[in-house]
Amino acid sequence: MAASADHIRAMVKSHGDGDDEAFYSVALQVAAKAARQGHHHFATDVKELVEAARQSKKASNVTYIAQPRGELADLVVASHPDVRLSDLVAPKNLRDSLVDVITEQRQRHSLMDHGFHPVHRLLLEGPPGTGKTMTASVLAHELDLPLLTIRLDSLLSKYLGETGSKLRLLFEAASDQRAVYLFDEFDALGGDRAGSDVGEARRILNSFLLFLENTESESVIVAATNNRSILDHALFRRFDLVLTYQMPSTEDAVAVLKGRLGLMGKGVEWKAIQVPCDGLSHAELVKAAEAAAKGALLEDSKCVATDDLVVALKERARAAGA
Ligand SMILES: Nc1ncnc2c1ncn2[C@@H]1O[C@H](COP(=O)(O)OP(=O)(O)O)[C@@H](O)[C@H]1O
Ligand SMILES: [Mg+2]
Repeated sequence: MAASADHIRAMVKSHGDGDDEAFYSVALQVAAKAARQGHHHFATDVKELVEAARQSKKASNVTYIAQPRGELADLVVASHPDVRLSDLVAPKNLRDSLVDVITEQRQRHSLMDHGFHPVHRLLLEGPPGTGKTMTASVLAHELDLPLLTIRLDSLLSKYLGETGSKLRLLFEAASDQRAVYLFDEFDALGGDRAGSDVGEARRILNSFLLFLENTESESVIVAATNNRSILDHALFRRFDLVLTYQMPSTEDAVAVLKGRLGLMGKGVEWKAIQVPCDGLSHAELVKAAEAAAKGALLEDSKCVATDDLVVALKERARAAGA
């Protein structure tokens, strides 16, 4: 028997960790031992299997990282969002910037052939519920890439003391995987939310900055924060683009409601709902629209009545303290 108890232990552990390279290297050790014992057929078989597995993994890198296993599964959530740019209600300058990012990424090869890098490091900042997380989904969908969300807040609370090394593991696996990487609630690294372990947050921030520096410009890195003020200003310079999100204008608020209600909104007198929209974020408007639509459906109506929408908006405003 060429595989010792240690080999089997190491293989089970590397499989659990999702560490394919460690797994193959143990398999090759087993093959080498088998060869020394004269089992040449078996040794050759194992080597060929490892070679074939490595090749096919290279060919399907995206699938691999899109389904993180082992320790990585705790650090990153993979998804394939279905949100289009046209779903995002945003002022013209913001939309134009996003169109630029998408165009540069789509035409990255012609830019890179001439020594230019497409914009790929974005910092999104602004109040909650204004579309920052949604923007990462839009970019992933429009570029046909997986969205990998790194959960900094849960990371900090769960693995205190070892997050830095875990994150490095993730970054190593990720640095050559083309994807949209979202570091949501990015301010978790910058302020009190790191709790007592400020040193740990620093270490993570440093690995993040290294990642930012070294990642292929064919991937898109999005950091999002509701809380710009607690971020170190020096950090802003590390990004190619800083986008500011704002509470919706009245016109945008109506667009959000119309977008969510679709045909169910065709009877609404939009002028009557402008004041009640005031002070609500995009996300809260969506929730109000959903509440009104459900109410209508439960009363067997296919259209939302203006008054009911106004009530739903006021309800939301009360809940949000707006
Ligand atoms: N600008 C927007 N346009 C359309 N819908 C939006 C917008 N912003 C937020 N929403 C709605 O609210 C939800 C939550 O928004 P999210 O992107 O998580 O906000 P943030 O990350 O800025 O806190 C989205 O999934 C979407 O349904
Ligand atoms: Mg968000």
